Amino acid sequence: MTESALPRHVAVIMDGNGRWARRRALPRQAGHRAGVRAARRIVELCGGRGIAALTLFAFSSENWQRPKREVGALMRLFVEALDREIAELDANDVRVKFIGDREGLGPELRSRMRTAEDRTAKNTGLTLLIAVGYGGRWDITRAARSLAREAASGGLDPESVNEEVLAERLSTAGVPEPDLLIRTGGNHRISNFLLWQLAYTECYFSDTLWPDFDEADFDRALEQYSATERRFGKTSEQLDEDGGAC
Ligand code: FPP
Repeated sequence: MTESALPRHVAVIMDGNGRWARRRALPRQAGHRAGVRAARRIVELCGGRGIAALTLFAFSSENWQRPKREVGALMRLFVEALDREIAELDANDVRVKFIGDREGLGPELRSRMRTAEDRTAKNTGLTLLIAVGYGGRWDITRAARSLAREAASGGLDPESVNEEVLAERLSTAGVPEPDLLIRTGGNHRISNFLLWQLAYTECYFSDTLWPDFDEADFDRALEQYSATERRFGKTSEQLDEDGGAC
């Protein structure tokens, strides 16, 4: 596959941990642990393929509604995974960033998140965005509030607010919009993920449950992506005139 056919930014909705566990008569927690292993695998795959950015939807703003025990277990799993993986991520030049509302996260996890971000801030390899407590509506609302505050204090002309200005206030500022969205687990919806940023993203839906999503599945997603003409609202003829640039 040529490099130009590769997405620069891949975003993933990792769905199916619970069903993976149920099929094996295991507790949901075992599915989440297997999910962490699959997350590690896709980070390695993206790093190895020279993909610039990967965003993983680890915990949505809606996931707070899950049973308290499951939420607690997930938070502990995130702390453990960070403790275990951060040295290797750093050694592999991965820049880790968390997006989402940190309100409600425990102090242990918050401190791990800050440490991971600080430790890897200067890395220049794969940018790994981990969405925790994230919701697309939260992100857009926060950006709008920040603009409104600045306008109210006289520091910003409301007429100067355009798409670029708003995008700079989103939690993904500075990272190119996702080219490819992968959702595993058989459902075909966006689930309040990167609502603004996914406007022109190619979507790949897989029936594979997240813990089973492996290199062959990832290759299928990349193949579909490279075979798709991205028109961004233009016609194919216009793209030919532009020299195929998209
Ligand atoms: C979806 O499975 C997964 C989640 C709600 C989040 C947990 C994700 C992980 C543990 C992966 C690890 C990620 C990182 C970055 C450490 P589900 O429980 O919704 O599955 P179901 O639909 O089969 O019940």
